[in-house]
Amino acid sequence: MNPDTRIYVAGHSGLAGSAITRALTARGYKKLVLRTHKELDLTDRAGVRAFFEKERPDHVYLAAAKVGGIMANFELPADFVYLNLAIQNNVIEESRRAEVQRLLFLGSVCIYPRECPQPIKEEYLLTGPLEFTNRPYAIAKIAGIEMCWAYNRQYGTRYLAAMPNNLYGPGDNYDLEHSHVLPAFIRKFHEAKASGAKSVTLWGTGKPRREMLHSDDMADACVAMMELPDADFDKLVANDAKLPQPPLINIGWGQDYTIKELADRVREVVGFRGDIKWDSSKPDGTPRKLLDISRMKALGWSPRISLDNGLRGAYQDFLARFATRAKE
Ligand SMILES: NC(=O)c1ccc[n+]([C@@H]2O[C@H](COP(=O)([O-])OP(=O)(O)OC[C@H]3O[C@@H](n4cnc5c(N)ncnc54)[C@H](OP(=O)(O)O)[C@@H]3O)[C@@H](O)[C@H]2O)c1
Repeated sequence: MNPDTRIYVAGHSGLAGSAITRALTARGYKKLVLRTHKELDLTDRAGVRAFFEKERPDHVYLAAAKVGGIMANFELPADFVYLNLAIQNNVIEESRRAEVQRLLFLGSVCIYPRECPQPIKEEYLLTGPLEFTNRPYAIAKIAGIEMCWAYNRQYGTRYLAAMPNNLYGPGDNYDLEHSHVLPAFIRKFHEAKASGAKSVTLWGTGKPRREMLHSDDMADACVAMMELPDADFDKLVANDAKLPQPPLINIGWGQDYTIKELADRVREVVGFRGDIKWDSSKPDGTPRKLLDISRMKALGWSPRISLDNGLRGAYQDFLARFATRAKE
């Protein structure tokens, strides 16, 4: 680890990017290069080129993306495919031109086929049809993995694609229409408790299973990989053209829960005493998405933050940042 490494965290204000920025700062990296969305729109090719030519980072964490839950993916499919392709095309290509030494591209578990065997191994990529509700997003992310792989083969770059499972943690998005499952539950239960409601209605049947990973665990894993010695990092990015394995690695907690179990946990942490009703007219999404994290564990990494501890911290973060606004 060299504290003078120049590191660009794209999307540093988001859930994943802010956790990576915290992890880097905690480890003593002093030369972080950060730009807000307003300062640098990553879909603007010329702006991204000028940024990379000026800043010339050594390492890049690509955590900027158009991200959202089922409803957002359903309503804005064109945005999800176009914006994500544009962001990653620009950042990956300009990283190559600026001779970035290592890049970590963040994708998500939705890249894997809907009916995957469980737990999901990296080699199941492109072995079956995708879930329809977020296919545009998934296809953009798959293109990003393919770009990392193709650039490694053609240019000898060291670009790695990491696929975390569902994240939660400080800095999450609590917008009910665009948030993921746990922040949406936190807000709904909090508002129900505040208004004295007798019940809360949640989307779907509650039967699908989901693995949740705290964003700080995900960030630790990402930074640990980016700090590997060259020989070990090269094994992950598999620059051997004959090796039919993309530079892809799963990051997860290793255990999943039904949505109903997750809702019960959040209700308890928030302290809502009413009932939960399930609106089964709303889509459930993929039945199960549990990642096989053997590759990550073989590197010596394991997640540390239990669901209950993580949820308590997430609720404190919600109270500090959103509770007042959510009541308005
Ligand atoms: N959240 C999860 O459960 C989860 C799970 C697995 C993987 N991931 C992956 O982690 C990555 C980040 O997700 P996240 O949950 O951290 O999302 P997020 O909280 O919405 O953060 C996304 C970040 O990207 C920035 N951004 C978006 N469009 C941009 C643009 N055109 N130019 C510059 N910056 C832009 C956002 O800035 P503004 O907010 O200012 O627009 C924000 O800083 C994604 O690749 C996602 O696939 C997330």
